Amino acid sequence: MTDLGNLPFTELWPRITTLRSPPFVPELKLHLVTAQSPWWTLEPEALAHSPYRDPYWAFCWPGGAGLARYLFALGASLKGRTVYDIGTGCGIVALAAARCGAHRVIANDIDPWALEASARNADANHLTLELSAENLVGTSLPEESLVVLGDMLYAPEQSQEVLAWGYALRSRGCTVLFADPCRGYGLPQASAKAWFEVAAEVDPGDGTCRAHVGIWELDAP
Ligand SMILES: C[S@@+](CC[C@H](N)C(=O)[O-])C[C@H]1O[C@@H](n2cnc3c(N)ncnc32)[C@H](O)[C@@H]1O
Repeated sequence: MTDLGNLPFTELWPRITTLRSPPFVPELKLHLVTAQSPWWTLEPEALAHSPYRDPYWAFCWPGGAGLARYLFALGASLKGRTVYDIGTGCGIVALAAARCGAHRVIANDIDPWALEASARNADANHLTLELSAENLVGTSLPEESLVVLGDMLYAPEQSQEVLAWGYALRSRGCTVLFADPCRGYGLPQASAKAWFEVAAEVDPGDGTCRAHVGIWELDAP
């Protein structure tokens, strides 16, 4: 079998992804790995020496799907806003913000392949994203930005760092939204603003294929 993990991105992409709408977010089309893709069953070890070692960008995560749904519910109130999608992955949250009419949408990810994927998904939806590869965690973002983070609380220490940064941004005047499928490193369930039952295409970690996704808007400390 071809060593998929070492193909150039332009060759890999059409072999492993299919353009389709995730069931929970029919407004967008995304190039995603499906159960029919040769990557669905690939063991992580097969990518150990590949440049695509953590292909988060090939999947739509439950947090991103829930957050995209929440942004579509906010709808026109996003018009004119500057939105930072931190850890954009396939770009689903950034694209929802752009579709709602946000003035600038910055899709940020430290994985350059996520930005390649987001750019292709933006093209597929005739939307424009600004791409940012910088690690923005801990930096200052412009006041009054909307900062959105889908499925970015996935490990204990990393979650503490990202949450502390979120509160710092909030105290500087940003609006900060997190979406998390109850991984347990995040925010108290009682303080969530909204909940969504997402038909997860990525196992949320508890062996089920549905994810209970909470949306949190940080209060000023
Ligand atoms: C679980 S995926 C979520 C992707 C997307 N938000 C979604 O919900 O579908 C986490 C993403 O965060 C990115 N990431 C991790 N640490 C980051 C950081 N410090 N800054 C920006 N992106 C980061 C990873 O590369 C990955 O694409």
